[in-house]
Amino acid sequence: MKNNLYQFIIAFFVLLTFNGAAKAQDENTATEAKINQLIKKLTLEEKIAMLHANSIFTTSGVDRLGIPGLSTDDGPLGVREDLSSNGGWESAYLTTDSATFFPNGSALAATWNPSLANSYGVALGEEARARNKDIILAPAFNIARTPLCGRTYEYYSEDPFLNAQLAVAAVKGIQSQHVAACVKHFALNNQETDRGRVNVEVSERALREIYLPAFKASIQQGNAWTIMSAYNKFRGEYCSENSYLLNTVLREEWGFKGIVISDWGGTHSTVNAANNGLDVEMGSRPPYENYYFAKPLLDSVKAGIVSEKTIDEKVRRILWVIYKTSLNSNRPAGSINTRAHSKTVYDIASESIVLLKNENHLLPLQMDKLKTIAVIGDNAIHKFQSEGFGAGVKAKYEITALQGLQNALGKSVAIKFAQGYNAPKTGSKNYNEHVNSPDSTLIKEAVNTARNCDVAILFIGGNRDYESESRDRKDLGLPFGEQALVDAITAVNANTIVVVIGGAPYDINKIKKDNHTIVWSWYNGSEGGNALADVLSGKVNPSGKLPFTFPVALKESPAHFLNTFPGENLTADYKEGILVGYRWYDTKKITPLYPFGYGLSYTTFSYSGLQTDKKSYLVNQTITATIKVKNTGKFAGKETVQLYVGMPGSSIERAEKELKAFKKVMVAAGQQVIVALSIPVKSLAYYDEQNRKWVVEPGDYKLFAGTSSQDIKATSIISVNSENK
Ligand code: BGC
Repeated sequence: MKNNLYQFIIAFFVLLTFNGAAKAQDENTATEAKINQLIKKLTLEEKIAMLHANSIFTTSGVDRLGIPGLSTDDGPLGVREDLSSNGGWESAYLTTDSATFFPNGSALAATWNPSLANSYGVALGEEARARNKDIILAPAFNIARTPLCGRTYEYYSEDPFLNAQLAVAAVKGIQSQHVAACVKHFALNNQETDRGRVNVEVSERALREIYLPAFKASIQQGNAWTIMSAYNKFRGEYCSENSYLLNTVLREEWGFKGIVISDWGGTHSTVNAANNGLDVEMGSRPPYENYYFAKPLLDSVKAGIVSEKTIDEKVRRILWVIYKTSLNSNRPAGSINTRAHSKTVYDIASESIVLLKNENHLLPLQMDKLKTIAVIGDNAIHKFQSEGFGAGVKAKYEITALQGLQNALGKSVAIKFAQGYNAPKTGSKNYNEHVNSPDSTLIKEAVNTARNCDVAILFIGGNRDYESESRDRKDLGLPFGEQALVDAITAVNANTIVVVIGGAPYDINKIKKDNHTIVWSWYNGSEGGNALADVLSGKVNPSGKLPFTFPVALKESPAHFLNTFPGENLTADYKEGILVGYRWYDTKKITPLYPFGYGLSYTTFSYSGLQTDKKSYLVNQTITATIKVKNTGKFAGKETVQLYVGMPGSSIERAEKELKAFKKVMVAAGQQVIVALSIPVKSLAYYDEQNRKWVVEPGDYKLFAGTSSQDIKATSIISVNSENK
């Protein structure tokens, strides 16, 4: 009887799934028929008008056939404010275009929590809908190859696996709202210096293993509907006209069906770009009718150098995206600046903050013992929503660190503030004066404030002008004379807590040596200050882990060690190959300042009993590893278990280990949980350049379970056999 019931239930669900799939298939066929009809009705002129910008963020539709144009906007920090219709980047000065400011990319990555990346995507998608945008130019996830890259804060990580997990989750979230994600920048836009001209040379193996995985996953698993070609060249061809990247890899190998959009002003030809895979040319400088994909494209079709079939394919892709977005009947209305979105920002921010050092257990703050807190530093009052060259947000509100502390603690303690240093904007009158040198008057004032307080919380670091799109940092040094401020405050207040706010690694060697308490925070969005205050007060136990390595010295990081940044004669040769980020430091036995994956908690965790479900596997099987994680401290806390894999006896060059799985778990004080992690054996493959395919080498592999790439708690060996053994 029971068996029959089960059979019935199973049959019911199979039928339901089958029906769902059949319905989706019907819809696809109906859409395809509509697209075919429209393409037949469109004139060549109308088609061409759909392939280029008609204003800074939009393209034309065709009114007579009910085809809307595409409305895009940046991303990734939130839906950017609207711009004036005169062309150029001037604001439209509307009062209706404020939005939620989301934490920056490396903050999201520091959560090591793909479900938060998904919530980010959903909220961003909802806001884009509410602002009537069809495509949001996000997420951005080029690999952090050099810590100097001006866009490190926007991107996620130096690791392709962490990168891919977050990218897929973000894309799915955005598109759940019938807004197209535009994954960017495809590909190898790993530096801003000469980004519009530099040619990247990289081995096929490093391309496949390091730089492409997140793009591939966002297309194949995330099903991203649009992608942005990068500014730079790759193997001698601009990415916007790179047939290998766009036609061979993206379309033929990965099966991408959506639109390739150029980066703004990143198109360099008509015929090559049209034939080599670009669909839409965007840019910010009118007149738009002179764009490569405007009149010159029309002329090229008429002259027979670009076929009308090629144009039809581009229009087909655009219509395909339009039917998923603006013409989709399931499209929700969206919502903006909601409490739920603020909560998403708060959740990401509070899981992103990394506790670097807490030697004296000064954190969490012991509120019953505190009467006065000195809050020092410009970053305590700095707003990060919109500065520098890159896309920002006109945030509905942004809680600074000082406001956050006042909100959380202001009733029970006296909070005194001093600015401590000046942070002028790049190019401003007193920039050179302040970028490298301390301001002795401000330091004196800050010392006086800090001297008599129970605790001094010192906010230093970068900002979104200092770390910016279109330029790379010159070095890793702290700007604005901040080190002198740290030294001066530390000398007068033994309870100094240093909070560094930044989106990329900085040189904090001296702080690590001299200071007992260090917290790392990010450009953490509208709720950044509240989340930070809750971490300092202990309401939130920090669980962020670094998504990239902090080197002791810049010259020890791979691209700099090999002198391949920013390249010579406009060529950046990625000589480090696959040894990017921790893969380099581990393999070369270089101890970094803070390793990839590092981050402390107010509690402690012990690991034991690493086990795998079997000892030997075939290529199509999955390794399930389990490990016990015990919370041995007094606070409940989240821990991210990281599972790396290496192959010490490999016949080819390998990194010592590579991240292949991770899981973030909540563990109550005194409790133990068993964490299970799965690794498909196929993901152990390397890219065989000669045979142009992924190969899983048979033999023994070493599993490393740890709390960071350097703090390995347990190892285990498994073997992989080829099928015919
Ligand atoms: C950036 C893109 C951005 C575009 C539009 C370009 O400068 O590289 O990431 O989406 O501008 O603002």
